[in-house]
Amino acid sequence: MARVITVDGPSGSGKGTLARLVAGRLGWHCLDSGALYRLLGLAVERSGIGFDDPEGVAALARGMQVEFRGDAIYLDGGDVSLLIRTETAGNNASKVAAIPAVREALLQWQRDYARPPGLVADGRDMGSVVFPAAEVKIFLDASAGERANRRYKQLKEKGLDAKLSDLIAEIEERDARDRNRSVAPLMAPDGALVVDSTALSITEVLDLVLERVRGAFPDTAI
Ligand code: C5P
Repeated sequence: MARVITVDGPSGSGKGTLARLVAGRLGWHCLDSGALYRLLGLAVERSGIGFDDPEGVAALARGMQVEFRGDAIYLDGGDVSLLIRTETAGNNASKVAAIPAVREALLQWQRDYARPPGLVADGRDMGSVVFPAAEVKIFLDASAGERANRRYKQLKEKGLDAKLSDLIAEIEERDARDRNRSVAPLMAPDGALVVDSTALSITEVLDLVLERVRGAFPDTAI
């Protein structure tokens, strides 16, 4: 059994960056589970199937061909790395993510990423549903305003267009959908280290998390 560290939190909390840094320090694999929901949102848009057709969307989830090559992400053979990072893609992701049959279709797929020596997985339900036995669980939060600010900078750096007021509104809408859905709602799992990163740098967050990781895996060089 591979060791697992989960990093959950709302949109823009910095969990993706944190997960990649922790995986890099340990030399472990990394799973960006949000990318799977983003890819499915894009596949739905392209297919002409409606977001209101749960069975059709779940069938697409079961059939989509996904490949992670370094930092690039391919859907059915095409590079969609940038396309899936837009706010529209994030919103579409949260629509398909609220469909129980979709979560069921992606469950084993995500679990298969847990390979030796270990996996750092980030998302909304990594510690609560996908990897409930994970040795280390982190819940990373930050205020909605701060998260929108960070997203704004990220998008600008990628050359994508964005308006801060729209981002705040979209983040709040997405948070509400993710927290209130009936299946696998966003929440801090039992036993998680809860970190509010609103006023912390990524280095400060990383230090707190690595301290927890060292405690859980005393035999691992970090
Ligand atoms: O993390 P990211 O912003 O890429 O996730 C996009 C959307 O995918 C989230 O708003 C959420 O609705 C959904 N998601 C999820 N469960 C996960 C990861 C992402 O429901 N484990």
